Amino acid sequence: APAGPLKGRHLLVTSGPTHEPIDPVRYIANRSSGKQGHAIAAAAARAGAQVTLVSGPVSLPDPAGVDVRHVESAREMLAAVEAALPADAAVFAAAVADWRAASEAAEKMKKDGGTLPPLTLTENPDILATIAHLSNRRPRLVVGFAAETQNVVTYAQAKRARKGCDWIVANDVSQRSGIPGGVMGADSNEVHLISAEGVEHWPQASKADVAERLVGRIAAALGPLEAS
Ligand code: C5P
Repeated sequence: APAGPLKGRHLLVTSGPTHEPIDPVRYIANRSSGKQGHAIAAAAARAGAQVTLVSGPVSLPDPAGVDVRHVESAREMLAAVEAALPADAAVFAAAVADWRAASEAAEKMKKDGGTLPPLTLTENPDILATIAHLSNRRPRLVVGFAAETQNVVTYAQAKRARKGCDWIVANDVSQRSGIPGGVMGADSNEVHLISAEGVEHWPQASKADVAERLVGRIAAALGPLEAS
């Protein structure tokens, strides 16, 4: 790893959507390009960190200098995250599907008979909340994301408390956010950083710049590596 403010640190990042299988050819997913999470992993590697990126299915290349674990479902993502611990800091940028099919059909479901197949959903694990609530092996700094369409700061502050994380990076994904076409899949982002200290508004910037700024803040929060 290059020299830099995160030298000697292990950062864990989740990115992308998850795909929750319904049958061998169908799945449930959230909209997510993975651009912001991958940019954070890349920026952390450039800052000298050892980086583990747990990525759902995305069409992005693996960032340089990053150890990438490719997963499909939320349960696989949680297992990969747990296997990657311990970490000094963890950033949960993935858009994890909240629900999955209660059972996966072994064969492709057929549309014959004119009846609609039943789809029973069950809840997925909350990866951010699970890791933030660990008593053992909790990363010192746990960062979540919040995509909201209204009352962005209020909802994100409530989410920070509920999830038990240290920071929330909150963005307005409504069409009024000023980013043409909305933030999904876009190259820029406008966020609020919500912490115990309060709320900081970061003006619209590229996802790469948001990533660099966040990585700088993570390095500052972790402080210098203790001399051994
Ligand atoms: O609850 P909500 O999906 O709005 O929370 C978003 C934050 O929680 C993101 O940081 C996301 O990566 C994380 N999350 C997670 N596992 C889930 C759902 C959300 O890690 N099952």
